[in-house]
Amino acid sequence: MHVLHFIKQFVFHPTKTGAIAPSSQSLADLITDAADLSNASSVIEFGSGTGIFTEKILQKVSKDTKFFALEINPDFVKATISRCPNVTIYHDSATNAKKYLHRLALKECDSIICGLPWASFSEGLQNELLDTIVDILKPGGKFLTFAYLQGLLLPAGIRFKKNLSTRFKHLTKTETVWLNFPPAFVYCAEK
Ligand SMILES: C[S@@+](CC[C@H](N)C(=O)[O-])C[C@H]1O[C@@H](n2cnc3c(N)ncnc32)[C@H](O)[C@@H]1O
Repeated sequence: MHVLHFIKQFVFHPTKTGAIAPSSQSLADLITDAADLSNASSVIEFGSGTGIFTEKILQKVSKDTKFFALEINPDFVKATISRCPNVTIYHDSATNAKKYLHRLALKECDSIICGLPWASFSEGLQNELLDTIVDILKPGGKFLTFAYLQGLLLPAGIRFKKNLSTRFKHLTKTETVWLNFPPAFVYCAEK
């Protein structure tokens, strides 16, 4: 999917898309390296967009890893499949992740790599999604999500950071990827 199509999705679905451009390759490398994917037996991606993280996840997981993505926008589902034809992706909200884990006869997963636009979500949706994530991660499981630098100043971004630190045992933050548009970093949370 061309960047112009991404911008179009932002114009028609601003709060769900939450960005005017897809993430950079550098951010995709940073978030997928932080997830220790070669040792994960089960991985889920939330909000694949054009599949920039999906492509890296598929390159970094082992052949036995169970992996699927959830994406709420049908145009982005198509874009992810076009970039990664072998991906398992469901057109559904991340809030329903548990249902798809059960289809694999799993209750929990090792890692969640997330591209959701937290700073544009309401408090209720942030809490619902975070509760789902904590529920379906194994103890010691990793949750990786990126945030834009400017979001640290927005009320929803501040609330999100606080919610992460109250729900997870360990929370760290990577360096900033300045060449991402806008500049972004990754939160690394461990249950
Ligand atoms: C900021 S974009 C990131 C896309 C891609 N991961 C990237 O980094 O370029 C946010 C993505 O989350 C998707 N999304 C928003 N709410 C969602 C939800 N509740 N469940 C699944 N996907 C969602 C949007 O449609 C969009 O593709």
